[in-house]
Amino acid sequence: MAKIAYGPIGMVGAEHVTWGRGLAGAFATLMLWYIGKATYNIFLHPLRKVPGPFVAKFTSKWLEYQGFTGHKTATLHNMHQKFGPVVRVAPDELLFSDPALIKKIYGFKASYLKTSFYTGFDDYGEPVLFTLRDRSLHRDRKKLMAHAFSESTILQGEHLVAEQIEKFLSKIEDQQGTAMDVYMWFRCLTLDIVSSLFMGASFETLDKRDHEYMDSVDSYFVLAGLKWQIPWLIPLTSWIPWARWQHFLGAQTKIYNLGRSSFKDYLERHGRNSGRQDALTKIIHGDKVLPPLSDEQIALEIGSILVAGTDTTATVLTYLCWELAKMPTLQVQLRDELKQAILGYQDKHVPKYSDLKFLPLLEGIVLEGLRLHGPAVGSIPRVVPIGGDMLGEYFVPAGTTVGIQAYTTHHDPTIFPDPDTFKPERWANGGTREMKDASLPWSKGSRMCPGLHLATLELKAVLAALSLGWELSLGPNMKDDTMDMIDNWVLMPKGNFCDIVFKPLAV
Ligand code: HEM
Repeated sequence: MAKIAYGPIGMVGAEHVTWGRGLAGAFATLMLWYIGKATYNIFLHPLRKVPGPFVAKFTSKWLEYQGFTGHKTATLHNMHQKFGPVVRVAPDELLFSDPALIKKIYGFKASYLKTSFYTGFDDYGEPVLFTLRDRSLHRDRKKLMAHAFSESTILQGEHLVAEQIEKFLSKIEDQQGTAMDVYMWFRCLTLDIVSSLFMGASFETLDKRDHEYMDSVDSYFVLAGLKWQIPWLIPLTSWIPWARWQHFLGAQTKIYNLGRSSFKDYLERHGRNSGRQDALTKIIHGDKVLPPLSDEQIALEIGSILVAGTDTTATVLTYLCWELAKMPTLQVQLRDELKQAILGYQDKHVPKYSDLKFLPLLEGIVLEGLRLHGPAVGSIPRVVPIGGDMLGEYFVPAGTTVGIQAYTTHHDPTIFPDPDTFKPERWANGGTREMKDASLPWSKGSRMCPGLHLATLELKAVLAALSLGWELSLGPNMKDDTMDMIDNWVLMPKGNFCDIVFKPLAV
């Protein structure tokens, strides 16, 4: 009996032992592989001589972790201070700070492609202008879309931009004398402008003060980072019935669905051949030679434009208001410049862009805002092409990820003396050749931001309208660290708000 009773249990025990041994063997093999790889990365790797934090020499986890702290850009900037102009930030990733390399890595003729990081932004496996990595596919997509972003198309919609800014001014009027969170209001404003221009109708977020899109976009960049850096996490956890997690996971889908519904509404309202000169009709009709984009591709592009074109501009506007609020003398100087340039200005209206475009102080303020508070000042990753390349004093093998942080070139004291200080006057006469070469707020080359004409118009028009009608000061809740930089790919203020008090100017 005893034998019969113990037989099967003994067999199961033997299986356990076998399983246990198997697992231990697999673990040991994994460890050996890991130690072998780490040893190779530290002692034999072609990049072994490049300085950098020790942990980054053998694992990319250190860099990935920085991405989740919200301080990646600042930490990597400090690494440059410690290790010099080239830093090995992961076994196969280098960061450079020499502006002379900007052209080589990002310039029009550069053959450095975007890394696989960008696929994290694709939700339906269908890439968009921002995420296309293949050079010729990107060139064709750009041809189909470039005219929608051109300065002349944007200027045809200038009245739509002004309409939204005037609505924003009326909100200031309602709240004059009390603290107003401009970060939230600028997000509403830029969303209403982009939807007016690209979707044929404003989302009217300024009236509703909220939009389902708003919190989705907060999660959008974090989600893209997670999808790329920990690809197994999302499939493994997508079943968890925790509402906040589900909400977070659905952020990209929500934005792309918004793109779809906006496009559907547009077609119902205007059709495909309305003759409208707006950006969306231009995208629908595409180029003379290439076949037009499919409806699905257009809808996805709209979702992507919503993200690319709202928080970016809103962040710079927020930081510019903050800088102005701290500098009453600069406000007076700007107001004087505007009053001299715009004869017959009507109170509470938005000046015409043609009156603003070339005003030197306004230009200096915008450029200084983009230098110190550009929303995408972290490293923009690219892959070294086949054959490898000499970058500075190092030969860098093909496939290595390289990048330059605008934050670091923008803080180079040899180019921008007293780099932490907001000094619009440093841009007098357009700034020096070195300043222009080191400026990277829009990136450079074929992947440069196509939204810069719209963004510049928005920045100048809003600043001008505010300066002409209002005196700005900081709200009582603003602390020293409220506006510290948190970066989730796109920069945001640590406090997640920026309170400004607007006092009407005596007419
Ligand atoms: C102050 C505002 C803005 C700044 C500083 C900014 C900055 C940038 C930067 C640095 C890139 C390159 C990113 C990379 O290569 O990874 C970029 C790309 C892009 N931006 Fe902007 N952006 C702004 C506003 C806008 C606006 C208003 C729009 C659209 C209405 C827009 C649409 C795009 C698109 C579609 C791309 C992808 C271009 C491509 O890969 O070919 N951006 N932007």
